Amino acid sequence: SSNGSGEKERTLGIIKPDGLSENAANFYAEHSSKPFFTNLIKYMTSGPVLVMILEKEDAVIHWRELIGPTDAGKAKITHPQSLRAMCGVDIEKNCVHGSDSHQSAQREIAFFFKEAPSAFKTEAVRKHDE
Ligand code: TYD
Ligand code: MG
Repeated sequence: SSNGSGEKERTLGIIKPDGLSENAANFYAEHSSKPFFTNLIKYMTSGPVLVMILEKEDAVIHWRELIGPTDAGKAKITHPQSLRAMCGVDIEKNCVHGSDSHQSAQREIAFFFKEAPSAFKTEAVRKHDE
């Protein structure tokens, strides 16, 4: 540290709304040419999100099964026990995300967590990175 004491210091940082919308646009880059893109980015940056890494055997397919179809409105009829049926509204506001493949999961996890200092990672994430 600057005073040589080795003591930790705190600073304050804020990611402002435009910073978040740039991130959301990058995260959903594969959909950038779709007609719903602008609304998707508006929705994704309309409030805080909770990002999690979920780990188990075949986690990608199991989480996709648990969250249900993209269209939360249809899910209420076809998959009433799914998360999107229970907490989502329609095809746009569907309340949860799940990676669509192992490869997407690796890319998306790196998007949020790769640069995080290991002190901020859970034991499971640290182990996974080794
Ligand atoms: P997509 O990757 O197709 O769905 P999923 O989240 O099930 O993998 O689309 C990404 C998000 O884009 C989706 O969760 C909600 C939004 N979206 C719309 O707003 N309108 C649409 O017609 C589609 C297909 C998706
Ligand atoms: Mg998808």
